[in-house]
Amino acid sequence: GAAVEVDISQLKPGEKMTVEWRGKPVWILRRTPEQLAELPKLDSQLADPQSKRNPAEFTPPYAQNEHRSIKPEILVAVGICPHLGCSPSDKFTPGPQPSLPNDWEGGFLCPCHGSTFDMAGRVYKNKPSPDNLPVPPHMYLSDTRLLIG
Ligand code: FES
Repeated sequence: GAAVEVDISQLKPGEKMTVEWRGKPVWILRRTPEQLAELPKLDSQLADPQSKRNPAEFTPPYAQNEHRSIKPEILVAVGICPHLGCSPSDKFTPGPQPSLPNDWEGGFLCPCHGSTFDMAGRVYKNKPSPDNLPVPPHMYLSDTRLLIG
């Protein structure tokens, strides 16, 4: 399969871009310092905070860390719910929202059966998704050029 080269120089903190790789949507998210600071606080609410399940399939070694990423601020993840394949929507706004946990800090919500994911694509406990959002194979060609695949 063809690898996809992406210029992320225009991606601002708090923004997400989507590229297609092997027919799948791949999200590239530049997290803010505040969003990064939230991640370790969420561990107790998550089903697999350290991405220990199926690491070969879902989290490459270079993303088996607190941020699930090579660069702390940049998340690269396949935007397909591991439950039955719907595409989760952005729920970046923190604070109480209908049908979301009161302490929701932003992340992603799968519209099909309600799986919620944090800003590292980690699934919350007691949700249908059996795994975190997959991190696809990727590397940096330069500071602003990313190669996916
Ligand atoms: Fe996402 Fe079922 S497909 S929760």
